[in-house]
Amino acid sequence: MKLLPGIYQVGGPARSHSFDASAYLLTAGDALYMIDCGTPEGFGQITENIRFLGFDPARIRAVFATHGHYDHLGGAHLFREQFGTRLYVHPLDRRQVETGDAALTSASLLYGVQPAPIPVDGDLTEDFQLDVDAGSVTLLHTPGHTRGSCCFVLEHHIGMTLLIAGDTLHGGFSAQIGSDEQAWRGSLDKLCARHFDWLTFGHCPPSLLADADERICALRQAFANYYTPWFKDFYREYHY
Ligand SMILES: [Fe+2]
Repeated sequence: MKLLPGIYQVGGPARSHSFDASAYLLTAGDALYMIDCGTPEGFGQITENIRFLGFDPARIRAVFATHGHYDHLGGAHLFREQFGTRLYVHPLDRRQVETGDAALTSASLLYGVQPAPIPVDGDLTEDFQLDVDAGSVTLLHTPGHTRGSCCFVLEHHIGMTLLIAGDTLHGGFSAQIGSDEQAWRGSLDKLCARHFDWLTFGHCPPSLLADADERICALRQAFANYYTPWFKDFYREYHY
């Protein structure tokens, strides 16, 4: 599904497989790039979706991962094997991907599978900058859900800014995946200090949400409220 000129959502529960988080395709001349790429279970449908849109998956040069979780990058080794696609991850999530850590990648925790160890070709840091047909993509390190969680920011050439938030918005919290409350709070503050016109995140239908600034600040407030003592029973019962 086309989200905006030059950016498509090609994976997610409604598009590929129930295990898949949102996966995005960006065009850049003859090249294609992905932000997250879904699971091995969704790989066949995601590549079919890409072909249906008129693009050859063999042109996908790299997957840039929002973080090191199975539902976001678990299929990256299949893209590598079939298309030579490289994988880039923030250094703080890199080891869990390369070792196939079943807990830290959330693969065993949420999906009951053992992930393949996936080589990572390079680090994603805040000096990341990518020119695509849609505009310019930069990166914000937003730890909290995981230590290496990142958001991508697309300054679209039509003059609007899109936040691709991964699981920094609405992601689950668990010590088993290295979640950190203070770090996450700081990351939400960081997002609240910026301006975005639209947002999308890892576990949402293939769509863009407007009023992004208001939504992010409301989520920042909700995150603060969630950890008040009044919600302890709920927190104990909510197993991520
Ligand atoms: Fe996640």
